[in-house]
Amino acid sequence: MASFALFIFTLVALSSSCSYAIGPQNNKTLLSLASRIGINYGRLGNNLPSPYQSINLVKSIKAGHVKLYDADQETLMLLSQTNLYVTIMVPNNQIISIGADQAAADNWVNTNVLPHYPQTRIRFVLVGNEILSYNSDQDKQIWANLVPAMRKMVNSLRARGIHNIKVGTPLAMDVLRSSFPPSNGTFREEVAAPVMLPLLKFLNGTNSFFFLDVYPYFPWSTDPVNNHLDFALFESNSTYTDPQTGLVYTNLLDQMLDSVIFAMTKLGYPNVRLAISETGWPNSGDIDETGANIFNAATYNRNLIKKMTANPPLGTPARRGSPIPTFLFSLFNENRKPGSGTERHWGILNPDGTQIYDIDLSGTRPVSSLGSLPKPNNNVPFKGNVWCVAVEGANETELGQALDFACGRSNATCAALAPGRECYAPVSVTWHASYAFSSYWAQFRNQSSQCYFNGLARETTTNPGNEQCKFPSVTL
Ligand SMILES: *[C@@H]1O[C@H](CO)[C@@H](O)[C@H](O)[C@H]1NC(C)=O
Ligand SMILES: *[C@@H]1O[C@H](CO)[C@@H](O)[C@H](O)[C@H]1NC(C)=O
Ligand SMILES: *[C@@H]1O[C@H](CO)[C@@H](O)[C@H](O)[C@H]1NC(C)=O
Ligand SMILES: *[C@@H]1O[C@H](CO)[C@@H](O)[C@H](O)[C@H]1NC(C)=O
Ligand SMILES: *[C@@H]1O[C@H](CO)[C@@H](O)[C@H](O)[C@H]1NC(C)=O
Ligand SMILES: *[C@@H]1O[C@H](CO)[C@@H](O)[C@H](O)[C@H]1NC(C)=O
Ligand SMILES: *[C@@H]1O[C@H](CO)[C@@H](O)[C@H](O)[C@H]1NC(C)=O
Repeated sequence: MASFALFIFTLVALSSSCSYAIGPQNNKTLLSLASRIGINYGRLGNNLPSPYQSINLVKSIKAGHVKLYDADQETLMLLSQTNLYVTIMVPNNQIISIGADQAAADNWVNTNVLPHYPQTRIRFVLVGNEILSYNSDQDKQIWANLVPAMRKMVNSLRARGIHNIKVGTPLAMDVLRSSFPPSNGTFREEVAAPVMLPLLKFLNGTNSFFFLDVYPYFPWSTDPVNNHLDFALFESNSTYTDPQTGLVYTNLLDQMLDSVIFAMTKLGYPNVRLAISETGWPNSGDIDETGANIFNAATYNRNLIKKMTANPPLGTPARRGSPIPTFLFSLFNENRKPGSGTERHWGILNPDGTQIYDIDLSGTRPVSSLGSLPKPNNNVPFKGNVWCVAVEGANETELGQALDFACGRSNATCAALAPGRECYAPVSVTWHASYAFSSYWAQFRNQSSQCYFNGLARETTTNPGNEQCKFPSVTL
């Protein structure tokens, strides 16, 4: 057995012993909820189809659930005409008021649930999104109100005779201080007692789920040379054995899920069920975002669907046989998501509704029968120079504003663009903006600047400069 190590984690023997987490017994309601894969319907794009068309697309890819990031009234109304199970979300900025006031919770339920339920098959209300990943003073006030807000939501729903909507909150893997080996999974100290304990008590007491946003892509991509891609894509022939528990892992997702199960177990809640509120793999990204391509995205998502729709359910090594409701991220590539290139490339569909790759969320078509894929060309890190230039056809007014922004942070950035200097000519907004973007990015990339500029910039490996004017570049 070859061993697999994530190099971001270090190995130290565990002294305390962990009891294995034994999953709750399967039950029919849960099985039917979990047997169809869900899709996250994010709408941070300015070129996306209407809700009506989007819902038809959700049906066409055979999703069983759809998760909204809000409680959009039009979308919820349209969903009443479908058999889709629906998840809606309470925005982060309402948690404090709902946590403090039952009337605010009642009001939210009256406005967002009652007009649509039960015709629209709402099954989950998720309070906030990854709130423990932010930690300003204001965010910590939200943390303190999270579980009170969730309790008040349940009170409201029950008071209105609604018993089959579960309340949860999606958390990211960064709630863990350590996640490797899986048996070492431990919650961050600052959240363990004040937030996780009451949260787990709530989830256990209401038979709800621990909703996890979990992306093997991220730990894999921290060191794509030494981490094993096939292990992240469910394609490995090798296994990893947890030295503490002896549990045998065949893929990275199971390791990540079990690390959360072990963290819950350490706090005394071994049986809270897991649901995956987001997972996926980016189909494209920036030049330094190794492994973000259609081949890997399709392979990850197809294998994930196969695993999660297996009947009887597979579960994870720590919880053999437990079904795990799973939502893919995401329906569309969303062109207004800020951040690096991958952020705008998690979709299964292009904004025009066409599939980026063949996929079947019902899991009834075998992986081998799905369409062939373009060969990946960025599974090993790119080495060379990269520049950041204006996209073709960009709006010149906006480009001018971005140029001012890029030149404004440091006098050095655009010195070569001054009249008489080597990069002054040709005097065009596009040329000047391209120079400024390259110069800015080369200077500030190490302070996490992106080559994005609100969608006005793109990366290139073709040197945009000339004999006279040398553009600064980033060397990968
Ligand atoms: C377990 O996690 C702790 C931090 O919570 C870390 O210091 C330790 O190195 C981890 N153990 C192993 C075996 O990786
Ligand atoms: C089965 O699952 C449903 C839906 O999650 C839940 O309401 C019910 O309490 C569960 N029953 C048992 C016996 O666990
Ligand atoms: C979790 O819920 C189960 C089932 O209701 C209960 O038996 C158990 O005592 C609860 N665990 C804790 C730690 O409260
Ligand atoms: C895994 O095993 C299969 C079938 O034996 C083989 O075709 C494939 O090349 C192996 N993959 C790796 C990465 O070794
Ligand atoms: C360019 O952008 C400006 C500012 O956003 C806007 O007012 C203008 O209509 C746009 N021009 C074109 C041709 O799209
Ligand atoms: C940029 O140049 C101006 C004018 O020469 C000067 O006043 C300013 O302090 C400089 N700013 C920086 C950040 O160097
Ligand atoms: C970031 O990179 C620039 C350009 O290479 C360099 O001048 C600067 O000192 C670096 N800053 C930090 C914080 O590493």
